[in-house]
Amino acid sequence: MAEHLRKLFYPRAVAVVGASRDPSKIGHIVLRNILSGGYQGRVYPVNPNAEEILGLRAYPSVSSIPGQVDVVVVAVPAHKVLEVVEDAGGSGAEYLVVLSSGFKEVGRADLERGLVERARRHGMRVLGPNIFGYVYTPSRLNASFGPSNVLPGGVAFISQSGALGIALMGYSVVEGVGVSGVVSMGNKADIDDADILEFLREDPRTKVIIAYVEGVTDGRRFLEAASSVSLRKPLVVLKAGRTETGAKAAASHTGSLSSGPALWEGVLRQAGALQVRDVETAFDYAKLFSAFNALPGPNVLVVTNGGGAGVQATDTLAENGVYLRELPADYVSYLRTFLPEFASTRNPVDITGGAPDEFYYLALRRALEHPEIHAILVLYCQTMTTNPLRTAEAVVRAVEEVGSGKPVVAGFVGSEEVRRAISYLLERGVPAYPTPERAAQALAALYRYAALRRVVERRLEYLRTIGERTRLLGERRAVQP
Ligand code: COA
Repeated sequence: MAEHLRKLFYPRAVAVVGASRDPSKIGHIVLRNILSGGYQGRVYPVNPNAEEILGLRAYPSVSSIPGQVDVVVVAVPAHKVLEVVEDAGGSGAEYLVVLSSGFKEVGRADLERGLVERARRHGMRVLGPNIFGYVYTPSRLNASFGPSNVLPGGVAFISQSGALGIALMGYSVVEGVGVSGVVSMGNKADIDDADILEFLREDPRTKVIIAYVEGVTDGRRFLEAASSVSLRKPLVVLKAGRTETGAKAAASHTGSLSSGPALWEGVLRQAGALQVRDVETAFDYAKLFSAFNALPGPNVLVVTNGGGAGVQATDTLAENGVYLRELPADYVSYLRTFLPEFASTRNPVDITGGAPDEFYYLALRRALEHPEIHAILVLYCQTMTTNPLRTAEAVVRAVEEVGSGKPVVAGFVGSEEVRRAISYLLERGVPAYPTPERAAQALAALYRYAALRRVVERRLEYLRTIGERTRLLGERRAVQP
């Protein structure tokens, strides 16, 4: 684990400077989120104008707090932040989480430099400024003014945009995607993406990372950190400023320099990151990678009750480099034992529009047991003769009974009842989507990730070889008379 960030994510005590008595103010909301989230460490509100806030004794300054504080969350106006740094400096705190706006993003780079210099002088690192805070569910710590009802799980978000980060938190609740951490990066005056990526890479609770990046301060370090993450777990990047106009917007948002789109695409590819264009796709991938990230073999089976859905999925898979193969002969013979004459037993297998859930169960169960079938895409289109929830139950029954760990991804299309079936599947660890295309694209991401990982492995291997050759050359020169 990246030791230098351990206390940020596992603090023994947190102080909130600017903890307001007014429930509508940011300092109040952060304190309330920390308390309602169930954080087990000590919490100290700091406000010289208050005696007590949310039932806790308020302290006039960080230096007057009797116990050890690891993290100081700062929610006072920018012009007061340097005073707070000086005051917190002697307290032994290691991290300042500065929510306040009014720094580089509004042309006050001097104030931002002063903040980092003073903090460093006192041995403190700075997250922010200009952020909405951070969340880490293994510590039950929600030190943010985002939603309070974050579900614990395996997806970590890093967001340079506050509003988008907050929206991602909300979206994760609606979509039922569990979160390990959410880190608002803001101006990245000190702690940057690479630091957080290194922590999350080692974090066993994080299965997949989604990063919204507008620009980075140290491109080489980002490339190295992202590459090392990709070798361990998928990194999904929403890169902002893909166009010239977008890049200009990013520059005025967090004051970061966003390099040209083509350069970025190359860097992200070399780093093995899965680049996505929109939040929906990022979440689709997050659902998939929360469930699986082992790299499956090449043979994907598509089972559908609608021919069109099967074709759409086949196209999407192929567009993403995954081609359907012929099914093993014994599997086809088995399908013939229960499917009607007019069903198609070629891949994609069309079990017909009126297929009872038992057909799904039988086709899936045998496929999960079959050593030559490596991943399964189950598609369902709602018809008046079928029941989406029962179909979902049949899928889960097969998956749970076989317990093979093979990727099974579902695309269920239809009305409100289908929505419930999708939730049912998600809650039981089967990534499920409302269209065949999204399901196919998510499954294909597993293969794309495998390919990107190979790119990283080859690049690192090449660098090692070059390094070794240079070293040997140096040794040879050194022994020459
Ligand atoms: N130490 C501790 N508390 C102090 C203080 C000090 N030196 N000086 C004042 N306070 C108290 C105030 O009395 C107040 O408490 P009260 O309401 O109980 O009186 C509280 O701290 C907040 O101070 P206030 O001056 O009212 O600030 P504010 O709440 O209006 O705004 C920020 C503070 C940080 C929220 C605001 O300056 C800001 O930057 N907002 C933007 C934040 C943002 O959008 N971040 C990026 C998100 S992506």
